[in-house]
Amino acid sequence: MTEVSNETRFLHAIELGLGAWQWGDRVVWGYGQQYSDKEIREAFDVSLNLGIRFVDTAELYGSGYSERLLGRLLKEIDQPVLVATKFFPWPWKITKGFIPRALKGSLDRLGLDSVDLYQIHSPMPTISPETMMEGMVECVKRGMTRTVGVSNFDEKLMLRAYTTLARHGIPLASNQVHYSLLTRDVERNGTLSRCKELGIRLIAYSPLEKGILSGKYTTANPPPGIRGTQYAELLKKLPPVIKLLQEIGQNHNGKTTTQVSLNWLICKGALPIPGAKNAKQAEENAGGAGWRLTEEEVARLDEATENIR
Ligand SMILES: NC(=O)c1ccc[n+]([C@@H]2O[C@H](COP(=O)([O-])OP(=O)(O)OC[C@H]3O[C@@H](n4cnc5c(N)ncnc54)[C@H](OP(=O)(O)O)[C@@H]3O)[C@@H](O)[C@H]2O)c1
Repeated sequence: MTEVSNETRFLHAIELGLGAWQWGDRVVWGYGQQYSDKEIREAFDVSLNLGIRFVDTAELYGSGYSERLLGRLLKEIDQPVLVATKFFPWPWKITKGFIPRALKGSLDRLGLDSVDLYQIHSPMPTISPETMMEGMVECVKRGMTRTVGVSNFDEKLMLRAYTTLARHGIPLASNQVHYSLLTRDVERNGTLSRCKELGIRLIAYSPLEKGILSGKYTTANPPPGIRGTQYAELLKKLPPVIKLLQEIGQNHNGKTTTQVSLNWLICKGALPIPGAKNAKQAEENAGGAGWRLTEEEVARLDEATENIR
């Protein structure tokens, strides 16, 4: 493993973050029906009180509302919070200049002069990783972001981003990818090991597999909306995994399936950023950090989920 650079060391010190896709998203998460700003504010406050200091948002979330709400919440608190947001490479955004311009918009919504991590939300065939990174270099040079990350980049694209930034003496801080007990592609396709090798923080999104790993959803009680269809097959295979998570949780003073699932990711060297719709969920999620599963427990969970998809 290479040395983690000084600029990105702070990311490696964070065990767990808070995802803010839920903040304003009506389509997938039902913002405005099932929960509102009051519940989000409570989830944010509880997270902070329990030591969570890293929030992940994006210009895309709630069409800018997530950033705006985070900006409002940040004004109400004294504690420092690390903020990560993302650029979405719409197919017409084909030159590097779009990136600092988009970040300016994010900073205005957040009410900040700079963010701690600016990420490319996803690769896009219309703009190369090299051009995207040149845009990111501009953002760093102008003091608009402390560090640079990517998201949904496979190993090859990640290396291209890493190399382009390296030419400017800038480290690639992170790659945010889908990673949970039920989605373990990054272990098989080389992304996780390459991140460790190059000192890139792997940020795990959908770490609870969009709520499935809480154990509250079953084939008889599927999640609402598109998640119901998306997870119909997986839910059939889930009961033994939930049973094992419960059993392992008992070895750790009754940790819940949610908390064991998050801790498994921490043990794997990832930084999970679970989303929460209310204080209760946020409190439970925060309890996923600050302790460790044993190596044997990690191995049992590995085995139980090896061929689930
Ligand atoms: N870069 C990307 O492309 C990308 C993609 C996806 C997500 N993300 C980021 O990753 C964050 C997390 O991922 P995610 O929101 O997709 O999925 P997740 O964190 O796996 O699941 C969040 C959902 O699970 C349920 N939940 C959360 N905590 C719970 C608890 N303690 N008990 C029971 N249910 C609980 C809630 O939904 P219900 O109550 O409705 O079940 C919540 O909305 C996002 O907020 C976002 O910041 C990034």
